[in-house]
Amino acid sequence: MTKVLFVCLGNICRSPTAEGVFHELVRRRGLENVIRMDSAGTSGWHIGAPPDTRARAEAKRRGIDLDHLRSRKVEPGDFERFDYVVAMDESNLEDLREICPKPLLERIHLFTDFAPKGVPTGDPDPYYGGSDGFAKVFDLITQCSEGLLARIIEERHKDDAR
Ligand code: 4NP
Repeated sequence: MTKVLFVCLGNICRSPTAEGVFHELVRRRGLENVIRMDSAGTSGWHIGAPPDTRARAEAKRRGIDLDHLRSRKVEPGDFERFDYVVAMDESNLEDLREICPKPLLERIHLFTDFAPKGVPTGDPDPYYGGSDGFAKVFDLITQCSEGLLARIIEERHKDDAR
């Protein structure tokens, strides 16, 4: 089993979108029993809240339902439980590095590192902008999710060969 945790600031815009998109990619490949995912926020400002209405609307438009998700805060045990802890931007990355036990630091990744070359670093936070920001971030999240899934499948094959 490979476990992935997506992390942003509020866990109501980017990381729940990433969780939903990644889940859909995993489902389409029939890998739901071997790859699991969750999302969390570094801040805890929106604990218990569903994803932002604009994020849910954009996802729904693309055939992905985020309505059941609820915001939670990252907790220390997450670094033990998840194989990949994926930060949506550099600031989330820094915050995660500060609270991560040293031996587990290599589990933390920047989401856009999995995007095709030429994509700018960091998922722009759409929270303070208009709904076109949500469409753009959705596209970026899809590209990064595809790259991340390809990497995980590659790593799993390497492990199988060992
Ligand atoms: P997210 O977006 O980190 O992608 O969920 C934000 C959500 C809420 C806030 C900031 C960013 N906020 O300031 O409450």
